[in-house]
Amino acid sequence: MVIAIGSDHAGVELKRELSAFLEKKGLDLIDAGPENPGPVDYPDYGEKVSLMVSSGRADRGILICGTGIGMSIVANKFPGIRAALCGEPVSARLSRQHNDSNILVLGGRLVGAVMALEILKTWLETPFEGGRHAGRLMKIQTIEEKVSRDELGQT
Ligand code: RB5
Repeated sequence: MVIAIGSDHAGVELKRELSAFLEKKGLDLIDAGPENPGPVDYPDYGEKVSLMVSSGRADRGILICGTGIGMSIVANKFPGIRAALCGEPVSARLSRQHNDSNILVLGGRLVGAVMALEILKTWLETPFEGGRHAGRLMKIQTIEEKVSRDELGQT
């Protein structure tokens, strides 16, 4: 599994800790940056990771900003992205089982490293359940297609 990871300055320390875990686990990791804790804009790094997942270059992505909210807003603009902001492992599990989330978003200023690792492990290990949830994802895809054709609101 290829995983792309990115953050802003508020998530760079947690990114480092999660990257060390993922590399130790032998996963193929693409670090989209930033490398340093100096101020950057979260949309720039959210775009890099979301594009990698949306284009298929990466199978999954991880994004971290201060609250996780900005990164979620950015990531969910991209076709095929189902980004889930998770503050505890139950949300991470359900985001995989029900929503087939392909980007995990974390609030670096809100979750500690121990909690973030538990969330990440759960998110990596949990498969999508399919079944009735697959039909709902198809509906999201249909909405995306309507938006891209500017047909929203038309029957
Ligand atoms: C940066 O100060 C902060 O606004 C950012 O990390 C994020 O929380 C935005 O949603």
